[in-house]
Amino acid sequence: MVSLTADLSPLRPDRNLAMELVRATEAAAIRAVPFIGRGAKEAADGAAVDAMRAFLGTVDFQGRVVIGEGEKDNAPMLFNGEVVGTGRGPECDIAVDPIDGTTLTAEGRQNALSVLAVSDRGSMLDASTVFYMDKLVTGPAGIGVVDIRKPIGENVRRLAKALGKPVDELVVSVLNRPRHEKLIAEIREAGAGTRLMSDGDVAGGINAARHDARTDMCVGIGGSPEGIVTACAIKALGGHIQGVLWPRDDDERQRGVDAGLEFDKVYEADDLVQGNNTIFVATGVTDGQLVRGVRREGNYLYTESVVLRGASGTLRRIVSDHLVSKWL
Ligand code: FBP
Repeated sequence: MVSLTADLSPLRPDRNLAMELVRATEAAAIRAVPFIGRGAKEAADGAAVDAMRAFLGTVDFQGRVVIGEGEKDNAPMLFNGEVVGTGRGPECDIAVDPIDGTTLTAEGRQNALSVLAVSDRGSMLDASTVFYMDKLVTGPAGIGVVDIRKPIGENVRRLAKALGKPVDELVVSVLNRPRHEKLIAEIREAGAGTRLMSDGDVAGGINAARHDARTDMCVGIGGSPEGIVTACAIKALGGHIQGVLWPRDDDERQRGVDAGLEFDKVYEADDLVQGNNTIFVATGVTDGQLVRGVRREGNYLYTESVVLRGASGTLRRIVSDHLVSKWL
């Protein structure tokens, strides 16, 4: 039964905040456009960071950056711990990824997104000390059916059964990396198809969890921050996400332990971000399966974004026309 009783508390991230935040990802995506296909990923990221921060500064909320561009000394803005927003309104955690797919952008390839996610203050896992996380994402059919601890072949068979389709119709997306050679071979041996992504596993995870997407599961090792951000979106899709931290060496493992992280733990959706009061916003930088990238036609720039709210279980698409002259 759907509750129609809105949470009217002004101190929690709400739907108005969600609609305000999309301005920040739109701005970041627009500012990244001059760098698409120009081979300059740092410059693209820098332009997107500047734009996102400027727009976040106009939004009524007190967002503490849990996942940002890194530590204060190395990142002049949107660094971990920075407080963004006007200082009025709800206290939130925020994860920013001004461009997920900086290489995709620099190479002019598909699927680059500008992304941010917001949740109640104190609810996001701070996994910033460990770069990588092994992840498994599916739609609702995977809940209680697939498990990151099980062999991939078994997960493939179980998910196909739960979805009521033959294994050979199942499509699993994986980042195309040497570390996934065995994983990819095992998926194919089990009879499923693979969609190899050159980058961008946030979009990969969301596409695996959407009811109308062409992939069924997204697996493999990608960024830990991307795992937290994806979890915020998965809450709105009612999907399934699990993560296991994947340290690159003993030093990183130790830094993780010192930060209170656990390496033999399967982080479930609620461990990655507590509760359902999540907002996920993404705008396409380049075209992708989730959203189209920024287009310029004549005097207008067109952006396409999605806004996902965990509290209401909605995915909204926002298409905006921006007068070019306002962005010069
Ligand atoms: P960036 O845009 O920040 O470079 O991230 C792109 C990305 O593909 C993520 O989507 C993914 O989680 C991560 O990089 C994978 O890391 P790596 O490229 O080191 O395998």
